[in-house]
Amino acid sequence: MKDVRTGTRSQWQRKRVFIRTYGCQMNVYDSDRMADVLRPLGYALSETPEQADLVVLNTCHIRERASEKVYSELGRLRDLKSERRRDGADLTIAVAGCVAQAEGEEIIQRQPAVDIVVGPQAYHRLPELLARVARQSDDRRADGRRRPGAGVLDTEFPVDSKFDHLPAPSEADVRAGSAFLSIQEGCDKFCTFCVVPYTRGAEYSRPATAVLQEARGLVAAGAVELTLLGQNVNAYHGEGGPGSIGGSTWTLARLIRALAEIDGLVRIRYTTSHPRDMDDDLIAVHGDVPQLTPYLHLPVQSGSDRILEAMNRGHGRDHYRRLVDRLRGIRPDLALSSDFIVGFPGESDADFDDTMRLVDEIGFASAYTFKYSRRPGTPGAALGDQLAESIKTARLAALQSLLGRQQRDFNASKVGAVVPVLFAEAGRKPGQMLGKSPWLQSVYVEGGADMIGSIVNVRLLAAYALSLAGEVVTDESPSRFEVAA
Ligand code: 5AD
Ligand code: SF4
Repeated sequence: MKDVRTGTRSQWQRKRVFIRTYGCQMNVYDSDRMADVLRPLGYALSETPEQADLVVLNTCHIRERASEKVYSELGRLRDLKSERRRDGADLTIAVAGCVAQAEGEEIIQRQPAVDIVVGPQAYHRLPELLARVARQSDDRRADGRRRPGAGVLDTEFPVDSKFDHLPAPSEADVRAGSAFLSIQEGCDKFCTFCVVPYTRGAEYSRPATAVLQEARGLVAAGAVELTLLGQNVNAYHGEGGPGSIGGSTWTLARLIRALAEIDGLVRIRYTTSHPRDMDDDLIAVHGDVPQLTPYLHLPVQSGSDRILEAMNRGHGRDHYRRLVDRLRGIRPDLALSSDFIVGFPGESDADFDDTMRLVDEIGFASAYTFKYSRRPGTPGAALGDQLAESIKTARLAALQSLLGRQQRDFNASKVGAVVPVLFAEAGRKPGQMLGKSPWLQSVYVEGGADMIGSIVNVRLLAAYALSLAGEVVTDESPSRFEVAA
């Protein structure tokens, strides 16, 4: 193939898209689906912007400075685009995701090199938007000028769901035996620190029949593990859809039970869940569906009742503790993970101590910790008593050190066990393969690339802060951790 930068490829040659994904797993899923939408237009994936005809930045808006990062990346892309144009070729630049949703107009005004701004609920219309850009560039060619801020903007929350317009999943949506499946989007909870209800819109659940169909498609395409995604995944309340038995509304628990019937699906995970939506049946599912991995990401954010209330979380610390007790009663080896925010406005030393005590009492296998960041438009941003950066930094360090110790202890507790590991990629050292245990721990073994995408029993030999080392077990019967044949 000729150098794409010269623009001398003939029309029949494939176009290339480079998608950069920021933020959460929902964005990873959306990026894959954008690739699916673009594939029928002839776009193959490119590894770098330099080799692409179209660059999509799939952005995240959850914490500060996210948009600044996007603008500096856009500055680099503008230079690349100018270079292309000097060579008589072009580069189309699209901004997608939550920054696009929140700051669409501003992006187009501030960076005229941007051709398309598309929100997270509208990306199924990318082909249409690209066609509009192509028409604009034809006009431009005629009059030789480009209007500043002439980019195409689509940040509507459409009345129909994008999911009804996306192509069926393919092998491209399965990575090393694992796939994401978005079942729910948006959020109505309005935690006072969070932009998601504004950027992703109201809570929406996909119909159960559509989810099951996509799941079967992903398993047929090679997935042995599915991670069900949603901003509030356990608030799932999808309609059964035509022909469904039992009719009416499905819960996440019912969906997991139905997914567990799919032959070849060995691991089911879900994320992110809210402590208010852990209903009795969902707790029970953790005990009686063996495919559901013994790992739960259940963000608590703070251990202080006062702060939980100011955050509008809708529950207190005791609710969380009781929930964890019930879950562990049913599934004693359940590994818990959480998100924490330190330095929410008004958080006192005593409030922070409550968080440290809760962490101490619960014992987490892993966690994500954040300093509170003020997001314009959220109720938290308007609160008085915003904390000094130095206080946030000190609290974050203390919390991370406690959680780091807990993670190391958790990893160490598995040494000696034989566990099924789903191998995902080559490790850093030659001859090393890296995979995930049922508790989402990173596990290294000596092995070859043929292991990628398969579940292999591994004896865990040594634990570190963020991973474990093990050896492949060949002569043993399946361990007690094996969840399926
Ligand atoms: N400041 C800090 N952390 C935040 N999160 C969401 N909004 C903010 C914010 N304004 C964190 C929460 C959430 C995770 C995805 O990001 O902990 O669970
Ligand atoms: Fe944001 Fe709270 Fe909704 Fe989670 S539950 S997405 S933190 S508003």
